[in-house]
Amino acid sequence: MAEIISGTALSATIRSELKCETDKLKAQGIVPGLAVVLVGEDPASKVYVRNKTKACEEIGFYHEQYNLPATITEHEILDLVDTLNHSDKIHGILIQAPLPKGLDFKNIINHISPEKDVDAFHPVNVGKITIGDFDFLPCTPAGVMELIHTTGISVEGKNCVVVGRSNIVGKPQAMLLLKENGTVTICHSKTPDLAQFTKNADILVAAAGKAGLIRGDMIKPGSIVIDVGMNRNEEGKLVGDVDFASAEPVAGFITPVPGGVGPMTITMLMKNTLRSARNHGKNKNL
Ligand code: GUN
Repeated sequence: MAEIISGTALSATIRSELKCETDKLKAQGIVPGLAVVLVGEDPASKVYVRNKTKACEEIGFYHEQYNLPATITEHEILDLVDTLNHSDKIHGILIQAPLPKGLDFKNIINHISPEKDVDAFHPVNVGKITIGDFDFLPCTPAGVMELIHTTGISVEGKNCVVVGRSNIVGKPQAMLLLKENGTVTICHSKTPDLAQFTKNADILVAAAGKAGLIRGDMIKPGSIVIDVGMNRNEEGKLVGDVDFASAEPVAGFITPVPGGVGPMTITMLMKNTLRSARNHGKNKNL
């Protein structure tokens, strides 16, 4: 039986530490500020954005939320990004993905000032991560690393398998595991015989966005299994990429969905925003 790693519990601990640090920064006259931009009516995005705003309130950040219609032009979004780039109240800018069709996410991200790119999606930050220079850690992969650290097992020398190669999770996840000296393999939809790789994983991060992709018989006994998946099954229930029922008896440690990686992503976003606010203060000699 695996030990369940609770992202909800770890998040609560980290958020209370962040609140203490925020209070100290506020005492110096700096209030961390996050702007969250939601375009369109995607129901899942609405929930994520609401949770991000709630986290800001819990920790004591200033926040601005923009709910923009799907009919908005890219030009208008770029104007908003410009305004936020120049706002002294805002230290972090987040454009919730995915954007409605016709809007170029990459182009919009390119316009965010890298110092306010708390998602770490801007090419400057992606490049920095690749050369081992970590100003902002990408939120979901950073949350995954925190969950792995709670097991007390070192990543160094371990076979780490990441399933999924997205820019948001898979690729940066591989970089963070590599930084801690893991031997990293990235698998994806074109990988033949996925199980051949996953069965050898001491640390398995499932981030493919496919419900039930990883079954118990594909997992190395005693391994650490982190499930980044957020899928709706036929009954509308939120499920991960890992088939929990068959995986849990085999794994050594496993994260649940919900209550695993999800809350950690938001907590890491808060950590990046606090860091940005602190840097902003240093630059102004506050
Ligand atoms: N959509 C899914 N995950 C994320 C995330 O971490 N950041 C943003 N901006 N959008 C997302």
